[in-house]
Amino acid sequence: MRIAITDGLHHEALDVLESAGATLLVEHHDAAALASGVLNGVDAIIVRSATKLTAEVMAATPSLRVIGRAGVGVDNIDLAAATTANVRVVNAPGASTRSVVELTVGHLLASARLVGPSDRALRDGRWIKKQATGTEIAGKRLGLVGYGRIARGVAQAASGLGMEVHAYDPYLPDGVDIAPAVHLHADLDSLFAACTHISLHCNLTDETRHLANAARFAMMPGVGADGVACGNHVVNCARGGLVHEGDAAEALDAGVLSSLALDVFEHEPLAPDHPLLKHERFLGTPHIGASTLEAQRRVGMDIVNAVLQTLASGTCSTVVNRDVL
Ligand SMILES: NC(=O)c1ccc[n+]([C@@H]2O[C@H](COP(=O)([O-])OP(=O)(O)OC[C@H]3O[C@@H](n4cnc5c(N)ncnc54)[C@H](O)[C@@H]3O)[C@@H](O)[C@H]2O)c1
Repeated sequence: MRIAITDGLHHEALDVLESAGATLLVEHHDAAALASGVLNGVDAIIVRSATKLTAEVMAATPSLRVIGRAGVGVDNIDLAAATTANVRVVNAPGASTRSVVELTVGHLLASARLVGPSDRALRDGRWIKKQATGTEIAGKRLGLVGYGRIARGVAQAASGLGMEVHAYDPYLPDGVDIAPAVHLHADLDSLFAACTHISLHCNLTDETRHLANAARFAMMPGVGADGVACGNHVVNCARGGLVHEGDAAEALDAGVLSSLALDVFEHEPLAPDHPLLKHERFLGTPHIGASTLEAQRRVGMDIVNAVLQTLASGTCSTVVNRDVL
């Protein structure tokens, strides 16, 4: 069994592969090398997001049986070509859930308590105690767009912090456990109209691109369920492009939004002259949702187990292209 690891992997995950008797090829290859068949002879390739596995790469690697994506998104893999080539693609969708949940809650709290502006003022020698009056998140309505793995974790944490949780997800599969305290909405506008705090947890699709935009910011109530004028707050730790960044900058200017916290951006890395960077009430992180020691280890272990199981039995619970014969 020969397995290529092209974007690195946690050392404990590499140990698991070696213990299973695999010969490992741990090296990054550029697109030209991959397309020339440098990896032909391997049974599996494990990638993160840096390696692009195109139709040319698959044609040049006829030995390939399984592609493992150490993470969730498979945008860097040509799924149709993999299916045609009878290559199973597997991922590790749950490995970073807890880490993204915690970052989301961190952004919600930091925004409500003006942690970013307070820290910047302190470094500038300004003691802004009086101006840095925030609001509690307890007693406020949190609207979750999408009610998948991460949103459900955020719902649980936010409920524990005293928030009233609302959600909108038109594609919830049957059998998903919805906590009794969560108010489900039939449309997105009613979610924005009900909630002073919105957190995005859906995939980026043609339907969801720019779903958080000027019209929807204007619907937000600005006053919490507890009657406190807490303003409106938006968090996106899902995918860049869900928030219309130009509209968000204008909404911050106009005071329609009191804060915006983004871990993901339409264009990454963020340009140093991006208009949001001049807003005191904007809080940004460089796509670090999955960047914890725990998630990095978990993603490595989950993906090697998925790849080994698929090589041995032909399938596993996280096959992405189930239509492979
Ligand atoms: N910041 C990071 O580093 C980081 C890390 C991991 C995941 N993510 C992202 O977080 C998001 C959620 O991940 P997850 O693991 O919870 O995924 P998930 O698949 O469990 O949940 C996504 C949910 O979005 C719902 N959805 C799809 N279209 C929708 C629409 N039009 N309106 C509302 N809901 C819709 C789906 O039905 C699903 O329930 C994904 O976009 C993922 O890529 C970000």
